[in-house]
Amino acid sequence: MNIAIDGPAGAGKSTVAKLVAKKMNMIYVDTGALYRAIALYLIEHQINADDESAVGAALDDIGIVMVHEADGQHIILNDADVTGNIRTEAVGNMASKTSAYSCVREKLLSLQQNIALEQDVVMDGRDIGTTVLPKAEVKIFLTASVEVRAKRRFDELTAKGEPCDFEKIAADIKIRDEQDRTRTLSPLVQAKDAYLLDSSALTIDEVVAKIISRAEGAA
Ligand code: DC
Repeated sequence: MNIAIDGPAGAGKSTVAKLVAKKMNMIYVDTGALYRAIALYLIEHQINADDESAVGAALDDIGIVMVHEADGQHIILNDADVTGNIRTEAVGNMASKTSAYSCVREKLLSLQQNIALEQDVVMDGRDIGTTVLPKAEVKIFLTASVEVRAKRRFDELTAKGEPCDFEKIAADIKIRDEQDRTRTLSPLVQAKDAYLLDSSALTIDEVVAKIISRAEGAA
């Protein structure tokens, strides 16, 4: 069985998907990490995100491998484990921009599909239910208001001791929503057969329970 969870940044996809995977003994796959790995490479090599052909040329030099270990998913970028390095706002913003390019999406499509062929996965992203796994048995579109998502991100960063500004986070979320929703290729849209789940007023456990009950119904 494959479970696809799509939705905007900060809706709680990864927290929820990890828990669902654990409870259902499935592998959790965070596809945003792949886009982030490419973005990290582009930042480190000072490649201009607006220059699509430069981004396309750089892709030939980027090797990404996703491995699943006891402590979760690891991303290997050209032999270096970058799992921790891809979690910055700068990398996220770069990933949002460069994920609009077809060359980037094509590079990552078969990689994601092959992972889901080999095992039962809970995969989260933006286009999993629509493009990557259109035949997934369970599709969830997880969303939450901008304010709730910004507050969650703010609390997360503050807990890590990273200085941050609520208004700036909310503004960045709006920009990323707009970029993810309006891009021509694989935009962030709810698949026709996806279940819309608004987590604004739900606890994590409530969201997890709703997804598991749908998965059990589909099994
Ligand atoms: O989920 P995230 O914030 O780690 O994702 C980073 C960016 O990658 C996001 O702004 C859009 C892009 N992305 C995508 O286009 N398709 C996916 N399946 C996952 C992420």
